[in-house]
Amino acid sequence: SLNGAKAGKTRDIIEKMEETGKNCVIFYGSQTGTAEDYASRLAKEGSQRFGLKTMVADLEEYDYENLDKWPEDKVAFFVLATYGEGEPTDNAVEFYQFLTGEDVSFESGDDKPLSSLKYVAFGLGNNTYEHYNAMVRHVDAALTKLGAQRIGAAGEGDDGAGTMEEDFLAWKEPMWEALSKTMGLEEREAVYEPVFSVTEEELLSPEDENVYLGEPTQTHLEGGGRGPYSAHNPYIAPIVESRELFAVKDRNCLHMEVDISGSNLSYQTGDHIAVWPSNAGVEVDRFLKVFGLDGKRNTVISIKGLDVTAKVPFPTPTTYDAAARYYMEICAPVSRQFVSTLAGFAPDEETKAELTRLGSEKDYFHQKIADQCFTIAQALESVTSKSFSAVPFSLLIEGINKIQPRFYSISSSSLVQPDKVSISAVVESVRIPGASHIVKGVTTNYLLALKQKQHGDPNPDPHGLTYAITGPRNKYDGIHVPVHIRHSNFKLPSDPSKPIIMIGPGTGVAPFRGFVQERAAQAAKGEKVGTTLLFFGCRNREEDFLYKDEWESYQEKLGDAFKLITAFSREGPQKVYVQHRLRENADLVNELLEKKANVYVCGDASNMAREVNTVLGQIIAEKRGLSPEKGEDIVKHMRSNGTYQEDVWS
Ligand code: 2AM
Repeated sequence: SLNGAKAGKTRDIIEKMEETGKNCVIFYGSQTGTAEDYASRLAKEGSQRFGLKTMVADLEEYDYENLDKWPEDKVAFFVLATYGEGEPTDNAVEFYQFLTGEDVSFESGDDKPLSSLKYVAFGLGNNTYEHYNAMVRHVDAALTKLGAQRIGAAGEGDDGAGTMEEDFLAWKEPMWEALSKTMGLEEREAVYEPVFSVTEEELLSPEDENVYLGEPTQTHLEGGGRGPYSAHNPYIAPIVESRELFAVKDRNCLHMEVDISGSNLSYQTGDHIAVWPSNAGVEVDRFLKVFGLDGKRNTVISIKGLDVTAKVPFPTPTTYDAAARYYMEICAPVSRQFVSTLAGFAPDEETKAELTRLGSEKDYFHQKIADQCFTIAQALESVTSKSFSAVPFSLLIEGINKIQPRFYSISSSSLVQPDKVSISAVVESVRIPGASHIVKGVTTNYLLALKQKQHGDPNPDPHGLTYAITGPRNKYDGIHVPVHIRHSNFKLPSDPSKPIIMIGPGTGVAPFRGFVQERAAQAAKGEKVGTTLLFFGCRNREEDFLYKDEWESYQEKLGDAFKLITAFSREGPQKVYVQHRLRENADLVNELLEKKANVYVCGDASNMAREVNTVLGQIIAEKRGLSPEKGEDIVKHMRSNGTYQEDVWS
């Protein structure tokens, strides 16, 4: 568009490719960064192995009206994650609407307007969700219908089965083969070519005020934030309350409230809050040591793309320490492909051989690395104690995602406390069976450290993770955390007299605390509130019964309208789960459904949500004298008309 052109930035992808001499664009629709990461990997592989002139592109940054003018010598890749209930990721919404809209039309008026477009497609999905890989399936179907030609198969990676990486690796080889054939590419010996130049700035010091030491954006660097706050510009929110809902060995649960007043951020009950974490000091130290950077951690570095289309993923200039601590996802599990890439930079032949083996033998890699959930640094440490100082820092920037905000279901009601957003999160420390170490959740442990700091706890760092919470230039004074809000469709019916059924074991109860808080306030104001039925499950009533006392106060306000049904899984000889209670209360559940109750499920996607879905179908079938299939169909129908909603995670 004209505006884009004026700003020196075109939204015309064909023009952009012509200008920069590219013949392959890899678009990504990404929510948590994985699709973006795969896009960069494909771009690198395409250029290094096949000599393609590749660029990576955020779907949000281009327009698609001229796809019918696609030049024959170019190819487009679409790497598309499916989000939530089969939705496009935030950055792919417009593209998706354009392509799949009723009235998608191109100037040519042709019925196969995209016949010159050659494309490659890979989807990232999760089979524990209803609409598995819906995004790539719909886009692929729409492109085909418009006459575009897909090269190779449309790949589908499954996060639910935990095979995303292997699905990706298995898909891409035949795809490259098909693409080589179509475009007449010749494979060559891959030589590493850095995407970024990394310059150590001897004249700059970390004290200089234009050096980023954790600030997310320029506005934060300039002292304080300026709105609007969004996924690109978080608000540094004060933490106004933090306490532990329970704490038992290896497991504790935080209740934290952040103040968003004056930020112009707003939320509605049922929305999500994104929290931007930083990495634990022990992991930063490990990472810098493994790559031989510990001695110069505070050296200032400038990073530039060596190609005009290469985007530097985080603010620069910065330091190695700040990059590892605030900007890079160094605690994520390492991929097999990245290990194999690093083999070329191993400190000795023996290490090189071992890394090559890990990179090429899937089962061996799983046993030694993936099953232990090793990060890149832990993986390399497990192979040798020597440091990998020959690895170019550019390769680490290319191979490691930029750190991603984490989303939590807000556990407060916006009607009751519009300026204070609460989070309820279990601090994760997962013992890997058979492994020697404990995997610690990056963000929840960071929040725990913030809580300890706020309370001036004598033992501020119970796990020895050494978070740098008195951060750069004292902007993160330990009681602030960068956040933004993500709106969701997980909403109470607008009419409070409608009945609702909520199922939320563990921290799955988070949004329902907000729901019940809201309905209690409505009842207190004299509004008519419908049956508010909550199924909650935990291990036992003494240990992890979240908001135990609060439910009683809500009960007082709501009276008979509120019913809490608990399932304590570890009190008796047999496990009792929420779905068992659901079944025991089949009459009540069916009666409420016949009164058009909305059903909400929150928590674990892989087992709980699926089992609840099944039980609900069975209840409907049994109580209404229908076949099991018909029962399932009714639940399906409730999903599609929005009366059965999920907020689930895996
Ligand atoms: P468990 O850990 O004793 O097996 C919150 O985590 C609660 O959810 C716990 O009581 C936990 O029980 C329970 N839970 C575990 N698996 C479940 C499943 N498949 N369906 C429902 N609840 C489950």
